[in-house]
Amino acid sequence: MFVPEPVTVRVPAKVNVYLGVGPRESNGYHGLATVFQSISVYDEVSVTASDEFTIVGEGKWAERIPTDATNLAWKAAHMVAKAYELPANVCVTINKSIPVAAGLAGGSADGAATLVACNAYWGGALPHEALVEMAVELGSDVPFMLSGGCALGVNRGDILSPVMTRGIFHWVLATFNEGLGTPEIYARLDEMRPASFDEAPSVPTELLAALAQGNAEALGQHVFNDLQAPAIASRPVLGRILEFGESPATLGGLVSGSGPTVAFLVESESAAIDFSIALLGSGLVDGAIHAHGPVHGARVIPS
Ligand code: C5P
Repeated sequence: MFVPEPVTVRVPAKVNVYLGVGPRESNGYHGLATVFQSISVYDEVSVTASDEFTIVGEGKWAERIPTDATNLAWKAAHMVAKAYELPANVCVTINKSIPVAAGLAGGSADGAATLVACNAYWGGALPHEALVEMAVELGSDVPFMLSGGCALGVNRGDILSPVMTRGIFHWVLATFNEGLGTPEIYARLDEMRPASFDEAPSVPTELLAALAQGNAEALGQHVFNDLQAPAIASRPVLGRILEFGESPATLGGLVSGSGPTVAFLVESESAAIDFSIALLGSGLVDGAIHAHGPVHGARVIPS
């Protein structure tokens, strides 16, 4: 019997450099106007032959990777297998570096990487559009994780337009061992707003201009996240970390997605290393990671 060769896909984390959230809609989701940027913190997802479907977790966060159907990688592999009319007889190994439940779309990244890896494993017959359709079904952030780079996301964040950027932006991520739940943070935002709230979000042109110019200083002045206030309400230390970052050492900071990761924009790689050390010394965080963006999305790499 023909057994396909193993496939490995590398997939980055994301930060939302802007996240404007509208009112809750009748489908339970909130209309968004967001700008995603992929950053250089990567999971690697490998697909190999197996007698039955399994997920194996490896790497720093291995013990926190679900190995059942709650993992988007599980759903993704079964969707692709169904399209090929094949049994999902594969082992999906997730080597995790992206912190879990952190607002960095790590679970969505693994879902997107599994779509790409399984498609390549079974012959690469599905067009990109078919993977995008599956990604939309998997979750709001999954379509962006396929493309990566920098993109404007509207609707649930799943309708994307590429955004022009120049140069490299340097980030320091303040990370925590304990995650925050996305639905809870959206619900908390709704509680904090008047019932009559009906403003549609939009991304300021100044922010798009800063990205197009590669102007990190201007970008730092316009980064924004509507989920920041409810994330701080749930985890007050985030407010203290943002205050700690209000120094000449950073150009701006914000909670990433639904948190708890706080992302700080800095001027250079050496500034990122210096600020990471200062953050760790503050005693306010569990970890500090420096990364740059934009980088490309889920891609097959040599196994
Ligand atoms: O799409 P995804 O499964 O990632 O969304 C997780 C949860 O986050 C949703 O069930 C919803 O509570 C919340 N959400 C939202 N509006 C969005 C995206 C997510 O309310 N645009």
